[in-house]
Amino acid sequence: MLAVSRRVTAAVPIGIGRVVARPVLTGAGSVSLLCRYYSKSSKPEPSRSNPFPIDTAHVREKHENAKLSRYQRWAKYLESEKFKKSMTKYYIGGFIAMCISLYYYMRDRYYEDIQLKHVRAKYEADPSSLLEYEYLMMKKLNNERLRPKEEKKWKIYQMMRKEFRRKNLLNKDAIFEPTPEQLDEWYQKQPRISSRKTPVLDQPIDKPDVVDDTKQESDKKTANIVPAEDTTSFYEEKAEAYDNEIKWEERAILMGRRRSWLMSQIQGDVLEVACGTGRNIPYLNTEDINSITFLDSSAKMVELAVKKFQSYYPKFKKVGYTVGKAEDLVDLVKDNKSIQYDTIIETFGLCAHEDPVKALKNMKELLKPGGRIVLLEHGRSTWGFINNHLDFRSEHRMKTWACRWNLDILDLVDSAGLDITYEKRVHLGTTYMLICKRPEDPINQSEKPFINKLFGSAPPKPIEKSK
Ligand SMILES: C[S@@+](CC[C@H](N)C(=O)[O-])C[C@H]1O[C@@H](n2cnc3c(N)ncnc32)[C@H](O)[C@@H]1O
Repeated sequence: MLAVSRRVTAAVPIGIGRVVARPVLTGAGSVSLLCRYYSKSSKPEPSRSNPFPIDTAHVREKHENAKLSRYQRWAKYLESEKFKKSMTKYYIGGFIAMCISLYYYMRDRYYEDIQLKHVRAKYEADPSSLLEYEYLMMKKLNNERLRPKEEKKWKIYQMMRKEFRRKNLLNKDAIFEPTPEQLDEWYQKQPRISSRKTPVLDQPIDKPDVVDDTKQESDKKTANIVPAEDTTSFYEEKAEAYDNEIKWEERAILMGRRRSWLMSQIQGDVLEVACGTGRNIPYLNTEDINSITFLDSSAKMVELAVKKFQSYYPKFKKVGYTVGKAEDLVDLVKDNKSIQYDTIIETFGLCAHEDPVKALKNMKELLKPGGRIVLLEHGRSTWGFINNHLDFRSEHRMKTWACRWNLDILDLVDSAGLDITYEKRVHLGTTYMLICKRPEDPINQSEKPFINKLFGSAPPKPIEKSK
C-alpha cells in the first residue's frame, strides 16, 4: 500500500502570493504532497524544513516551452529579460569576432595587393611570362568570367595561397608563385572528403589551353551519353517534315522568345552553323547585319532555308549558303583566309554534331577579333532527376531525333577553349543561352558586372596566355 504523507510547510500567505501543490515521490512506494508558498518572484526560498525546494515556475516554463515550435522558442527567448540582460555580453563577443575577421580579411587583402603589384610588373615586362595562377588572377581583375575548369583551379589556388600565407605569417616578402605541377601535387595530397565547398578536378589537371577530352570519355561512361555519329542522312530524310514536327513543341515552351534573343545579339558579318530549315530567319533584322551565311551538312535543309530566306527578305542580297560540316569549317575556307565573322550563331546543332568540340574550335578560328559566338543549345540540366531521365532516354532520343540531348554544353565550350561572357539557363537548366568569346579578346563594357558599369573603368587590355 502507498503511504501518503501530507506536509504543509507554509500555511499563512503574506501579501500577493500563491500556494502550489505538487505530489512528489519521497521514498519507496510513498507519495508526499508538498505544498509550498512562493513569493511573486517565483524563486523558491530555501527553508529549514526543505533545503531542496522545487523551482516549479521553471518547470512549468519548461513544459510550456516544449509545446512551442523552435522559432516560437527563439522569439520568446529574444523577448525575455534574460536575453536583454545578457546583451552586453553578446555585443562585446560580436565586436571581438568582427575585429578578428576584419583583421584576417585586411591582412589577406594586404598580401594580395603585394602579389598583385608583382604580377602587374611581370605582365608589363613580358605578358607571356605569367604563370597559370597569375594569368587567372589577371583575368579575374579584368572582370572576365573564368571557364568552369579555370574556376575550379582558381579555387584550389586560393586554398593553396591561404596555406602559403599561414606558413609565411610574418614574411611579407614571400610571394606565392605556384606552378601547375605544384597545384597538382598539392591537390593530390588533400584528403578526399566530399564537401560542397571543395572543388573537384578531373585528373590529371591540364593546362588552360590543353583540351581535356578524357572528361567527355568519362562522362560517356557515367552519364549514358551515346556515341556521336554523322547525322546528315537522318536530317536529309527529316528535312521536309522537320518544321511541322517541331513547331508545337517549340510553341509550348516559348522557344520563339529564345530565338528572338539570339537574333538580337548578331551584328556585322554573320555565320549560322547547322541552320536547318532556317527557323531563326523570321527573327532576323537585316538592318543589324552586313551579310549572313547559312551552313548545314544536309543539302535538303539548306534548300528549305534558301526558300525561307527569300520569302522573308527578297531584297537582301548579301546572303550565302553552304552545304558542309561544322567540323570542316576551317578547311572549307582555307583558300580564302580573309573569311571571318563578327558573329557566329548556332541553335540546337551541337547535339547533332559528330565532334561538337571540333565544331566549336572551328568557329573560334573563324571569329574576327572581338567577335562573338552566340549559342542556343540544349543539354544536361541543373536538376539531377531531369538528367536521370535524359540519360535513361538517350538512346531512344538518338533514334528518333539523331540528337544527344544529355551533353554538358558548358563542358564542350570549355574544352573548345572558349570563354563565356553571358550565360542563362532556362527550361529547368536544359536550354543554354550562351555568348562566348576567344580568351584573348577583352570583354565589352556591356558585358561587365553591374558595379563596374556603374562606376566605369578603363577598357581592359587583352590578356595574353602564358605559353
Ligand atoms: C536539330 S537540327 C537544328 C536545326 C536548326 N538549327 C534549328 O534550330 O531548328 C540539327 C541540324 O544540324 C545539322 N547538322 C548535323 N550535323 C552537322 C554537322 N556536322 N555540321 C553541320 N550541320 C550539321 C543537321 O543537318 C540539322 O539541320
